[in-house]
Amino acid sequence: MGDLRSDAGFSTRCVHAGTCEDTLAGGVNTPIFASSAFRVPGPLGTVVYPRYQNIPGQKAVAEKIAALENGEAGLVVASGMAAIGSVFLAFCKAGDHVVLQRDLYGGTVGLAQRELPRRGIDVSWVDSQNPEDFVAALRPETRLIHLETPSNPLLKILDLEALARLARARGVLTVVDNTFATPINQNPLDLGIDIVVHSGTKYLNGHSDLCCGAVVARSELIGAVASMVSLYGPSLSPYDCFLLERGLKTLALRVARHNENAMALAAFLAKDPRVERVFYPGLADHPGHAVAARQMRGFGGMLSFEPRGNAETAHKVMRRLKLFTPAVSLGGVESLACFPVETSHASVPPADREKMGIRDTLIRLSVGIEDTEDLLADLDDALREVR
Ligand SMILES: Cc1ncc(COP(=O)(O)O)c(C=O)c1O
Repeated sequence: MGDLRSDAGFSTRCVHAGTCEDTLAGGVNTPIFASSAFRVPGPLGTVVYPRYQNIPGQKAVAEKIAALENGEAGLVVASGMAAIGSVFLAFCKAGDHVVLQRDLYGGTVGLAQRELPRRGIDVSWVDSQNPEDFVAALRPETRLIHLETPSNPLLKILDLEALARLARARGVLTVVDNTFATPINQNPLDLGIDIVVHSGTKYLNGHSDLCCGAVVARSELIGAVASMVSLYGPSLSPYDCFLLERGLKTLALRVARHNENAMALAAFLAKDPRVERVFYPGLADHPGHAVAARQMRGFGGMLSFEPRGNAETAHKVMRRLKLFTPAVSLGGVESLACFPVETSHASVPPADREKMGIRDTLIRLSVGIEDTEDLLADLDDALREVR
């Protein structure tokens, strides 16, 4: 595996960390080790098997992601939900309690509303950016707090350092879904968070052609998650490991461009009278801006906005967009747009969406790496639908 200086920069880690040397042909990439059967190493050796998370491609790409998150260890799985679900399974049992932020990816909301209670795990929701409110929700049997910052789709910001300190004092694990931020913009483990999860389907891979997830944490925590992955089996194939590793090599470059484009679009929308509200933590008047500026190196490629008017107007705006494809998912090189009420949060009951502040006019943009001027022109043209 790659031998890097501990102070290597993000771009260097993106390219080199974890690479499994091709000793046969000298190729610069980790080879695709396509076997599911590996010679048994003898009585003292470790059995290698894809579901055990230890084939070379899995180890190489997990090591790269762990290096980017400044984590001791990592593992990759078959989706972001497999990463999130495996963490809950690893650390929570019947009788336990977990605390979740209200504004979360809809799949995580669904898991917590339908699946955790079925397993006897009690769930509390906190609708606040105040770390003290999370502490107020803790009980003696609370095992973990699950968070997203920036959150999906309203880009709310939580003070991770404050939350981690308070939770640690109570012996509660903290989990951050770092999908929106990416390790280039934010490293939750450096702020005291215990576990980072990713939908690698998004920015980590970055090309909208792969579904995968990742978990990074201290070795003993990763060991517990790995044993759940071994039992339930959402392992990542060697071909997908190859694609993910290839995507990761340009992560730092891509994220710099996503940050730049999203900032430009958010600034444009914030000044436009045809727009009701803009949600982007890079804007100085965003309620979480000061915290984001402290804990993030860049504000990310995701933003949401509401055009003035009703849902019909918002749909007209969406239909008129040309460079933004109406699509679910995010984090790829191409720009995408979606209505969270119809996509990521379709499974969330309308009353809960209301509480979360997700209106039917809300359009979420995954801002790609196209030329800024072209994206601005496309948005400007689509907003002509607002009379
Ligand atoms: C923030 C966030 N976390 C997790 C997920 C789930 O990831 P996956 O679709 O790879 O399972 C998503 C998917 O959109 C997401 O946006």
